[in-house]
Amino acid sequence: MKYIGNKFRLLPFIDKVITQEKLPTKGTFCDIFSGTTNVAQFYKKKGYKLITCDIMYYSYVFQYAYIKNNINPSFTKVLQHEKDILKAKNKVQSSLFFKEDTNKENLKAVLNYLNNLPEEKGFVYLNYAPGGTSNSKYQRQYFKDENAKKVDAIRNLIQIWKNNDWITKEEYFILLASLIDAADFVANISGTYGAFLKIWRSMALKHLTLLPPKLIESNSKHEIHLEDANKLVRNIKCDILYIDPPYNSRQYAPNFHILETIARWDNPNIYGKTGLRPYDKQKSDYNLKEKCGEKFADLIKNADAKYILLSYNNEGIMSDELIRETLCKRGKAKVYKQIYRRFRTERDHAKRHYKVSNDKVTETIYFLKTIN
Ligand SMILES: C[S@@+](CC[C@H](N)C(=O)[O-])C[C@H]1O[C@@H](n2cnc3c(N)ncnc32)[C@H](O)[C@@H]1O
Repeated sequence: MKYIGNKFRLLPFIDKVITQEKLPTKGTFCDIFSGTTNVAQFYKKKGYKLITCDIMYYSYVFQYAYIKNNINPSFTKVLQHEKDILKAKNKVQSSLFFKEDTNKENLKAVLNYLNNLPEEKGFVYLNYAPGGTSNSKYQRQYFKDENAKKVDAIRNLIQIWKNNDWITKEEYFILLASLIDAADFVANISGTYGAFLKIWRSMALKHLTLLPPKLIESNSKHEIHLEDANKLVRNIKCDILYIDPPYNSRQYAPNFHILETIARWDNPNIYGKTGLRPYDKQKSDYNLKEKCGEKFADLIKNADAKYILLSYNNEGIMSDELIRETLCKRGKAKVYKQIYRRFRTERDHAKRHYKVSNDKVTETIYFLKTIN
């Protein structure tokens, strides 16, 4: 998933620091700005007990599916009620030579059923596709008509199943995670939902297809949170605290508003050219130059962690000096740096002026063993 600040490509760098500093290979790892949960997933696989947190609900969906959920659930109840899924599944299975694990087969059968639903004209089609908005004040083309109608049909049915108690909470979040990924894959954007493209990009022309999420089995009880990191930090204790806050002024809520709506399915009163949902309550102080320093200092002061790692980059709104000053109140900070190609959208190329003029960005990890 293209996500501002996604650390997928930086995982080897983060892990190099953790290995080099000989941090404990067991214990509690807290990823307190989890976003896509890529970092949390990586450390869940390594056997840590995870604590995750974010203010966005789509992130909570990922946290539930990939972090809190430890199993491949069976989907038995929905299979009993929706007889067509079972029939189709049995037909496929009788032709298979190698049989997969039953629960994985069930998930595939459910996704296959959802992928083939008749289209519906719902919230996404009526607000974010050309057909649905052709007579509205604002014409929008975030999705091809067909894909928007598929999102509507799938999202509606997942909710009906949930309301009927035909799927468990785990199954609900797994299906939602798969839908959010699939919708994002065919969205007609160049990186964020802050704008749609005027010309269809090739991915947007593909058929929306739900794929089975790669779930991670584990025996630990992981904790997930939908809240402000500064509130959470006062109530948790961990061995390793990984901090990956927003580093520029682009708020996540308006930049990923459609994913938030697909996740919440709350029929919001949207407005403006891009069909934004109200987001006052999800504005982050970490995106505000005048407030982020204070917020960060409060987080560090209240962190009950043996080790702290902070990811930041050289274009961030907090200066290196301010970060070091804040961290040194809890111990001696070490700094690791690596150069990367920047996350960039097509709008960026045309309009944005960067502090650093080339295509590269220096990613920094500040490492600290707390002594007080
Ligand atoms: C740089 S991104 C994290 C990316 C993540 N490490 C990944 O690999 O996907 C920052 C995240 O912080 C979240 N966020 C912003 N302000 C927050 C706050 N006050 N408390 C918790 N999360 C916040 C944003 O929603 C966003 O997902």
